[in-house]
Amino acid sequence: MRAGTAADVGHCLQLWRAAVLQRDGSAADGAALEAQILRSKTKFDGEVNAFLIAEDASGITGFVLALPHEPLGPGSHLALLGIDPRAQRQGVGRSLLLGLAEFRREQGDEYLDLRVLPGNTGARRLYESLGWRVSGEPVPHEVTGVPFQRYVLQL
Ligand SMILES: CC(C)(COP(=O)(O)OP(=O)(O)OC[C@H]1O[C@@H](n2cnc3c(N)ncnc32)[C@H](O)[C@@H]1OP(=O)(O)O)[C@@H](O)C(=O)NCCC(=O)NCCS
Repeated sequence: MRAGTAADVGHCLQLWRAAVLQRDGSAADGAALEAQILRSKTKFDGEVNAFLIAEDASGITGFVLALPHEPLGPGSHLALLGIDPRAQRQGVGRSLLLGLAEFRREQGDEYLDLRVLPGNTGARRLYESLGWRVSGEPVPHEVTGVPFQRYVLQL
């Protein structure tokens, strides 16, 4: 695992697109996904609390991006986590989440949070296995209106 750089952003967004298309299958909404990719690109532009990359001999297998929590507090918001479809179910997501928690704990964070689609059962199982806990009821996304479930990990 290594820190990501500006040169990795394009590749990570491509990887994100592939991971979401694979996750959503025939239910994927191409236009909504492209709009989401554009919003995701801007997340790398401001202050970043962690950008971690996993890779193997073939290249990048996954990444995680965490931003300062809003409203500002002693925590970070996990904004993006994506694993290349070719590398899923091999523990890459788990390693990135463990690496993120360790790094942000060392930086003084007291918690991490994230939002996940309620039907993303694979991701939810992963988060819950690592101690993340549901926080409140699903809340509509401020741009798309799609309900998202918040999770919190105490560090
Ligand atoms: C969700 C995601 C990050 C998981 O990453 P991953 O590297 O494949 O996950 P891991 O191999 O570390 O999985 C660890 C555990 O999580 C659970 N899990 C992960 N993916 C799962 C799936 N698709 N179905 C069921 N359980 C799953 C399992 O318990 C798994 O352990 P096991 O393989 O021993 O059964 C990855 O599938 C992905 O990028 N999905 C598309 C993008 C996305 O939804 N990101 C999260 C947005 S909040």
